[in-house]
Amino acid sequence: MAHYFESPARGLAAGERAQEVPLRIGGRDVRLATAPGVFSGSRVDPGTTVLLDTVDFSDRHGDLLDIGCGYGPLSLTMASFAPDATVWAVDVNDRALELCRANAQRLGLNNVRVCRPEDVPAEIRFRFVCSNPAIRIGKPKLHAMLSHWLGRLEPDGEAYLVVQRNLGSDSLHRWLVEQGWPTTRVTSVRGYRVLQCLPRHP
Ligand SMILES: C[S@@+](CC[C@H](N)C(=O)[O-])C[C@H]1O[C@@H](n2cnc3c(N)ncnc32)[C@H](O)[C@@H]1O
Repeated sequence: MAHYFESPARGLAAGERAQEVPLRIGGRDVRLATAPGVFSGSRVDPGTTVLLDTVDFSDRHGDLLDIGCGYGPLSLTMASFAPDATVWAVDVNDRALELCRANAQRLGLNNVRVCRPEDVPAEIRFRFVCSNPAIRIGKPKLHAMLSHWLGRLEPDGEAYLVVQRNLGSDSLHRWLVEQGWPTTRVTSVRGYRVLQCLPRHP
């Protein structure tokens, strides 16, 4: 398979092996199922780890979103910290969706809706978005994806994105500001920038 965002077959092919990666969620050590053909399947991605260590996940309510959930490290952390919220975990990689769904079930997290982007009901608006977005899909698709979801932030919502400096975090930051989303660099750790985006002013 050429890219992690190209969906492999759901079931494992001959020679492909399922794996598990450790993750600490709010003081609880868990293991998440992963597999070949999904993003960072052999360890939690360092950028995702920076985001997990930076953002305050507590006291979140309403509808929350992870754009490009993969096998679920961000979605499941959000769901675990916010049992009263609904976490929408979206991805275009069907194997990632299957893993994320299985991991949510295994952790007993019933507040995660794992689905393809087009299956999120159009009327849903988000209070909190957390994403390690798929930069490698290229700027036009990345911009379209972010415009779509950031445009669905609640007026009091906020989004956190982690982007590697070498993959264009600073130009993405500039683009977000140009598009009207007030954006702040919250931290920069080991070459990963965490950007906070607020809704556009009406
Ligand atoms: C950088 S990975 C992050 C995965 C996971 N959140 C993590 O932290 O390990 C980006 C994810 O976005 C997914 N993706 C690519 N294009 C997408 C799109 N248009 N909409 C939603 N997800 C997409 C990829 O399949 C991939 O799983």
